[in-house]
Amino acid sequence: MNPVSDLIKTLADQYGRNRHNLLPILQGVVEQETYLSEFSMIEIARELDMPASEVYGTATFYSFLEYKKMGKYIIRICKTITCSMKEKNQILLAIEDMLKITVGETTPDGTFSLLQTNCLGFCHKAPAMLINNDVYTELTPEKVREILTQYLNKRKEGGQNGN
Ligand code: FES
Repeated sequence: MNPVSDLIKTLADQYGRNRHNLLPILQGVVEQETYLSEFSMIEIARELDMPASEVYGTATFYSFLEYKKMGKYIIRICKTITCSMKEKNQILLAIEDMLKITVGETTPDGTFSLLQTNCLGFCHKAPAMLINNDVYTELTPEKVREILTQYLNKRKEGGQNGN
C-alpha cells in the first residue's frame, strides 16, 4: 500500500475516524509529509467518509498547512508590523544570503523552505521566526546564522528524526 495512505489510515484510526478530528489529521499528514497533496486530501476524505470538498475547504483555511512539497525545516519569518519595524528585512536577507533561496523557495537538497507569515504572537520579542514548531525571537542576522548552522549540523548528523 502507498505510505501516505498508510499514514492517513493510521491517523484516522488514532482519531476515531471522526470528522471533527479533521484538523489534527491534516496536521499529522503535514508533519510527516511536509505538505498536503491532492491525493492526501482525497484519502483523508475517504477514510473519514466525508466530501473531499470539505477536507479541501478546511485545509485551505489554515495558512500553516502547505500544498506543495516543503523542505525538512520550514522557516517562517514574521512579516507583520512589529517585526517589520524591528528590521525583519535584515533577518530575511541574512537567511536568503546564507541559504541562497528567496521567500517561497526550497533549498535544492530539500533541507530548508523559506516562507513569510503573519504575527506569531511574539511581538514583544520581535523580530521572530518559526522553524517547524520552534520559535526564535529577538533575532539578529548573527543569531539567525548561528541557528541555521545548528540545523545544518543536525541535518548532517542525521540526529533524532533529523531534527
Ligand atoms: S509582529 Fe512579529 S511576532 Fe507579532
